[in-house]
Amino acid sequence: MKAVFLIKNGKASTAFEMRDIPTPVAGAGQVLIKVEAFGLNFADVMARNGMYKEAPPIPCVLGYDVAGVVTEVGPSVTNVKPGDTVTAMTRFGGYAQYAVTDARATSKIPAHMDMATATALTTQFCTAYFAAAEMVNLHPGDKVLVQSGAGGVGTALIQFAKYKQCEIFSTAGTKEKLQYLKASGVQHPINYTTHDFEKEIKTITGGKGVDVIFDAVGGKSVKKGFRSLASGGRIVCYGAADMSDKNIFGKVKAALDFGIYHPVMFMMASKAMIGVNMLRVADDRPDMLQRCLEAVTSLAEKGVFAPTIGKIFPVAEIAIAHEFLETRKSMGKVVMKWQE
Ligand SMILES: NC(=O)c1ccc[n+]([C@@H]2O[C@H](COP(=O)([O-])OP(=O)(O)OC[C@H]3O[C@@H](n4cnc5c(N)ncnc54)[C@H](OP(=O)(O)O)[C@@H]3O)[C@@H](O)[C@H]2O)c1
Repeated sequence: MKAVFLIKNGKASTAFEMRDIPTPVAGAGQVLIKVEAFGLNFADVMARNGMYKEAPPIPCVLGYDVAGVVTEVGPSVTNVKPGDTVTAMTRFGGYAQYAVTDARATSKIPAHMDMATATALTTQFCTAYFAAAEMVNLHPGDKVLVQSGAGGVGTALIQFAKYKQCEIFSTAGTKEKLQYLKASGVQHPINYTTHDFEKEIKTITGGKGVDVIFDAVGGKSVKKGFRSLASGGRIVCYGAADMSDKNIFGKVKAALDFGIYHPVMFMMASKAMIGVNMLRVADDRPDMLQRCLEAVTSLAEKGVFAPTIGKIFPVAEIAIAHEFLETRKSMGKVVMKWQE
């Protein structure tokens, strides 16, 4: 089979190489999927830039989410069978014509959904669901800020917050993205290139702040977010995009910009900071991942979750697709498709 290997850290144009390798075999509890489409995630960009310590050593095959047809199941797999059309979270290895993964990270694609769209359900929508439904319990009327709301995870968070009847604030960096946020039901879209989100929140809430923040920007954004929380507020930190394009000094500064916190600060202000890493959840709590995936698929069946496809690229254009995601041009999910 063909697989796209990351052979070099750094710029996308020289980072990848297509190679022929043996097709993997499904072991106990695993499924083998003939991949029709695989998704890009911002973590792939971080891995390409050598900033993702969990990524396998180079040369390696990246890829967290695939959609395709099950061709083989290992012993003790009961939730899917050969011939099923599925979406699955892969622990790397997704940039390939076949991918093997844990059956518990695999779910049948909702009846009305195409394969490309379904790639968004596993990593991005599961992360959003885990953050918003398991780590934070959203209530009707809650004021919720979704940073980078036009992105993959951001889109899912907004859809879930809307379903929970929250008042939604969300940031993005272009006019087009702000229109997308409005069309998605965001009551308070904020262009972070022209407006300071902390000041905007202060003004709109009359100084009270918001109840929940989802932040994958990191650095100063977290410090300002923590200040923007109302009493009883929670900030969910699940990424550090701010660090992706910086040199070592910039990274150290961004790390310090997060701020320094003491439990007494949380207690006195009655605020909480929550960390989310789906890779840890997938590795250590596959049962939890399975629960999230089932909930996400069920919400997608009901139409609550409806991933947006930002752009579909042929696999040969992997470098262009990486640049598209890295340079903040994408909205929703970026998908790669194998050509027939
Ligand atoms: N912890 C976890 O388990 C987990 C799981 C999935 C994803 N994540 C994280 O969640 C975030 C979103 O992931 P995604 O795959 O859905 O990506 P995405 O949001 O679709 O794409 C990245 C977006 O982030 C925004 N951004 C903010 N600062 C940026 C920077 N310095 N460089 C580039 N983009 C920046 C840009 O949108 P605007 O310019 O409009 O803001 C950009 O379009 C990423 O940080 C990712 O690492 C974490």
